Amino acid sequence: MSNIPLPGFHIGAHHVRMPLALAPMAGITDLPFRRICKRFGAGITVTEMIASRAVEQGRERTERMAEIGADEHPVGIQIAGADPEFIRDAARWAEAHGADFIDINMGCPVKKICKQVAGSALLKDEPRVARILAAAIAAVNVPVTLKIRTGWDAHSKNVERIAKIAEESGIAMLTVHGRTRAQMFNGHANWEDIGLAKLAVSIPVLGNGDVVDAASALEMLRISGCDGVMVGRAVQGNPWVLAEISAALRAEAPPEAPDGGQRWAIVREHLEALHAHHGEHIASKLARKHVAWYSKGYKDSAEFRKHFQRISEWAAQIEAAEAFFAYDCSANEQIKQVWLHAA
Ligand SMILES: Cc1cc2nc3c(=O)[nH]c(=O)nc-3n(C[C@H](O)[C@H](O)[C@H](O)COP(=O)(O)O)c2cc1C
Repeated sequence: MSNIPLPGFHIGAHHVRMPLALAPMAGITDLPFRRICKRFGAGITVTEMIASRAVEQGRERTERMAEIGADEHPVGIQIAGADPEFIRDAARWAEAHGADFIDINMGCPVKKICKQVAGSALLKDEPRVARILAAAIAAVNVPVTLKIRTGWDAHSKNVERIAKIAEESGIAMLTVHGRTRAQMFNGHANWEDIGLAKLAVSIPVLGNGDVVDAASALEMLRISGCDGVMVGRAVQGNPWVLAEISAALRAEAPPEAPDGGQRWAIVREHLEALHAHHGEHIASKLARKHVAWYSKGYKDSAEFRKHFQRISEWAAQIEAAEAFFAYDCSANEQIKQVWLHAA
């Protein structure tokens, strides 16, 4: 392990002391979860991707996605789109919603997005990349950042050229997920390829892909030479991993992992915040996903998840989750009956 703390970096005027970013994840990194991740050590957070065409429609759901917390600055709002004019308008909208920086998504591999020549499909059209970045940067007074993959497929990797276009356009920070679009989420992220982007430019570069703990964060940084690390899937049901990674980046000893009671307190806070933010119907659906992740590794968790997915009432979900986490601590069979029969 390295014993030299990372110095952090700037996004425009914002000094990011802890070079650890929470990855944007649609349907996961909403405001309730970002707040928890921030507390565990994320230096920056970014909203879920917001389609540039959606912002004009002013839907409640879109507004909710752009809601940011007073306690999470510096925070970016992420936008996606293929058309420079839509991107310009979306960037202005995001700035008006209080974003400290606007992050442009050119990494999304989803077919529906790529068909509109947005997300990672843009990597095939370098002149358009430049036009989109120029439109966003000219539209706002806050810094604009970019998130990419390493190219469309193994035969057309262009991570260095895209990084240079980004720097020449005035992008303030670049994040590289070390996979091509063709790889989707398969195989292992290529941290050497991320390093090619870092070598090509002098703006801050964050490396992303398959960082799961302190050791992998330090290894990715060693191989890529990046200024910081972005972590996504590893925080699902496990936001305290950010405390472990941030301690390693400060060259400090790892903190104690939360015990069973502390974990339940985090889960409960998360569930209550989902309810307050989304309302009961959506919170109930999201709770199924998050509680399933949080329950991994606990006693009888597969059996619990099967039952929990069938519970429809919010109050019953809370009761079952509470009993399940208490059961793990005590292995008390009477408590098991509570979550086994919650409906
Ligand atoms: C469910 C899910 C949703 C995602 N949504 C977004 C998104 O909205 N915007 C984005 O730039 N990347 C998105 N990503 C990609 C992640 O930000 C990240 O690049 C990827 O998961 C690799 O990092 P990891 O190995 O740390 O998870 C998403 C990934 C997942 C698994």
